[in-house]
Amino acid sequence: MTSGGSFFITTPIYYPSDVPHIGHGYTTVAVDTLARWHRQAGDDTWMLTGTDEHGQKMMRAAAANGVSPQEWVDRLVGEAWFPLLKTLDVANDDFIRTTQERHEKGVQAFIQAIYERGHIYAGEYEALYCVGCEEFKPESEIVDGTGAFEGLKVCAIHSKPLELLHEKNYFFRLSAFADQLLELYRERPDFVQPESARNEVVAFVQQGLKDLSISRSAFDWGIPVPWDPSHVIYVWVDALLNYATAIGYGSDEASFERRWPGHHVVGKDILRFHAVIWPAMLMAAGLEVPRGVFAHGWLLVGGEKMSKSKATGIAPETLVKTFGSDAYRFYFLSAIAFGQDGSFSWEDMLARYHAELANGFGNLASRSIAMTAKYFDGSAPEPGEYADADLAVQRIVADAAANADAAIERFRTDEAIHAIWTIVDALNGYITESEPWVLAKDDAQRERLATVLYTCLEGLRALAVLLSPVMPESTRKLWTALGAEEALGALTAQDVRDAGRWGQLPAGATASKLAPLFPRIEDE
Ligand code: MSP
Repeated sequence: MTSGGSFFITTPIYYPSDVPHIGHGYTTVAVDTLARWHRQAGDDTWMLTGTDEHGQKMMRAAAANGVSPQEWVDRLVGEAWFPLLKTLDVANDDFIRTTQERHEKGVQAFIQAIYERGHIYAGEYEALYCVGCEEFKPESEIVDGTGAFEGLKVCAIHSKPLELLHEKNYFFRLSAFADQLLELYRERPDFVQPESARNEVVAFVQQGLKDLSISRSAFDWGIPVPWDPSHVIYVWVDALLNYATAIGYGSDEASFERRWPGHHVVGKDILRFHAVIWPAMLMAAGLEVPRGVFAHGWLLVGGEKMSKSKATGIAPETLVKTFGSDAYRFYFLSAIAFGQDGSFSWEDMLARYHAELANGFGNLASRSIAMTAKYFDGSAPEPGEYADADLAVQRIVADAAANADAAIERFRTDEAIHAIWTIVDALNGYITESEPWVLAKDDAQRERLATVLYTCLEGLRALAVLLSPVMPESTRKLWTALGAEEALGALTAQDVRDAGRWGQLPAGATASKLAPLFPRIEDE
């Protein structure tokens, strides 16, 4: 990808019916890392996240706590969802709340537009609804209840009883878009990623689509249907439109033109909404479909999707308090193949923290800088002639940078980190083999020592740039300690796509003391 192109990326908007857990944090840091990478490559980047505040789930959560829905969402968003972004060091460009006026107006304009284009009709409906999913469930996701729910039909995801609803609703002619959608998946094989997600979506649409009920009249916590205010707009239709209203649909056409279409990253539980319903809604309005939808897997606890409703939620702060936000970001983005499920365990996180961050990356940085202080008064030495071992490091750095960028293009943060980690491993091996502490004892090896240490420092320069989207805090400390801030400018201004070019750190850059980037953790 060339620099300067528009790159708009979104997280799902989260339900603030409850506080966030590490599953929500996972999606958010993945999207933040992808956005930071593109921003640092000079792309016209915009990262959006937010909260999905209407619907029955929210009404019930508020009622259970004895407050109005608006009071409830204001409290949860203010006390839990905004702070989450700080906890995880997320650099979002915008945060949309579906109770904001800019959103409500845009949603009404959109619904009115597709109504006028003939894609909406009034009808009657009776089906099983899951409030947890906020969805009328398809047959494939309805199962028989067990235990306390014996004899009842329950949701396959939430394991809670479904409710039989009978209403007069407005319907969106989703069925009319099946062929166009199949054509889209055929023409753009990477529209839905990964492959397994794409196959699931294609199979779902091939079975034929039913029209979608897009309004509810039994309660009023939602956006009124413009031509019939006795109905509110179905919460999923309301929610999906955040991706358009946040960037100016219905209020700022120039901004919308500049940003749209965007990329959506979602958990696989909500893939169908994003890869089937949302593009069909856009087609109905005569707008462009998204650039793509990437579905990642679930964080599992005890083999099941982590969820608040099953009391398996772990708060992100719990991990950040012990490991720090960088290690949180690194762990989830590197230990789990993006697109597949992964099990979280404290032991695994602790082991990787020590092996990869404390001993691998952190120690490499500490000893390279300490040796520069000791042998060269803290000033990056001028390298002499490069030998094979040095050239091998340079090639690894160049390949790692290119491979990481290619992996990010495929949304594979895990593969990008693994590519970058070849530099950490190569440099640690290089130090062991070059034995700078032995070279330092021999005046005749002064130039060789200079080359070895320059190679370490320049390798760390590349690592700081490449890892800054993943671990913004520790790389900033490293950047300063390398003296690179003064010599090359701000870390976030370094082009990630140019990071593999050797020789950017000038000799003479002044290194300064670096406290351990990842202090060892005593496990209680
Ligand atoms: N509000 C809807 C989304 C509307 S988008 C237009 C919603 N919200 S949610 O809060 O229930 O979940 C949103 C997202 O959180 C999921 O799609 C997923 O990205 C993330 N996760 C929630 N639980 C998760 C795991 N256990 N594991 C990984 N991600 C999880 O659905």
